[in-house]
Amino acid sequence: MTRHFLRDDDLSPAEQLEILDLAEKVKADRWGRKPLEGPQTVAVIFDKSSTRTRVSFAVGIADLGGSPLIISTANSQLGGKETASDTARVLERQVAAIVWRTYGQQGLIEMAHGTQVPVINALSDEFHPCQLLADLLTIREHKGELKGLTVAFLGDGADNMVHSYLLAGATAGMHVRIACPEDYLPLADVVADAEKIAASTGGSIAIITDPAEAVTGADVVVTDTWVSMGKEDEKAARVAALGAYKVDAAMMALAKPDAIFLHCLPADRGYEVEAEVIDGPQSVIWDEAENRLHAQKALMIWLLDQAA
Ligand code: CP
Ligand code: NVA
Repeated sequence: MTRHFLRDDDLSPAEQLEILDLAEKVKADRWGRKPLEGPQTVAVIFDKSSTRTRVSFAVGIADLGGSPLIISTANSQLGGKETASDTARVLERQVAAIVWRTYGQQGLIEMAHGTQVPVINALSDEFHPCQLLADLLTIREHKGELKGLTVAFLGDGADNMVHSYLLAGATAGMHVRIACPEDYLPLADVVADAEKIAASTGGSIAIITDPAEAVTGADVVVTDTWVSMGKEDEKAARVAALGAYKVDAAMMALAKPDAIFLHCLPADRGYEVEAEVIDGPQSVIWDEAENRLHAQKALMIWLLDQAA
């Protein structure tokens, strides 16, 4: 059966664990499995800018024996000129999978409904599930088992990374604390979904306004840009509203002494995080960026296995 990966809770706790275990193996044996040998092609479509996602999918698809076809929406018929479902019908006759970075989640849902090949969300306004697989892999490498760990996210609570941390963290049985201002809260339906998952995995969800309370005793501290792609016009208002949520050395000192710091990048030093933290000894951002490659290779192998 064709499986898609549009949001983090498309994977059950057991499936998430299976993919993280596979990612660990794939990382240890980079050239081991080549399910795309032939070669088959994977379409990787970008409506928004990217460095890490573009590179890690292109390299990962090539590692698996396939050919990446990188499409920029500006130079295609997608994006106003042709629907996602018509595009999907064209692509499924020629490619093994479709990876898409876009704006609204609805487009991804339409793309997935229209096609028999796996569709992977490479970031939408609502979710960034591939990044979360890489983050969980990184946290596991540094901390061991994910279950029971406390992760604190500070900043824009309506961010795609927050929604993905809520769902993927709950799936992994983690305690997820989000600290954000009242005007930047996560989507209520995503919080409700995460709470339901957490109730079954032993995790928990807390949405609070006090950043110090969220960080105190945390194992993992995370932030993201205050100005996500598409929100550039709101920069001044966001900087004013989110200033108290900056991760600096004093904030980091409230977490456990062996806490690690993650950021999906790109980062704005001096805004959501100070250089003393992101470039300091507790930061694991380069492992995190590398792990996009291994996690996404494992994801593609797993999705293609389900379709076989
Ligand atoms: N973290 C991340 O998705 O980075 P890019 O926008 O560079 O792909
Ligand atoms: N929240 C950020 C993530 C970038 C990888 C954005 O959407 O721009």
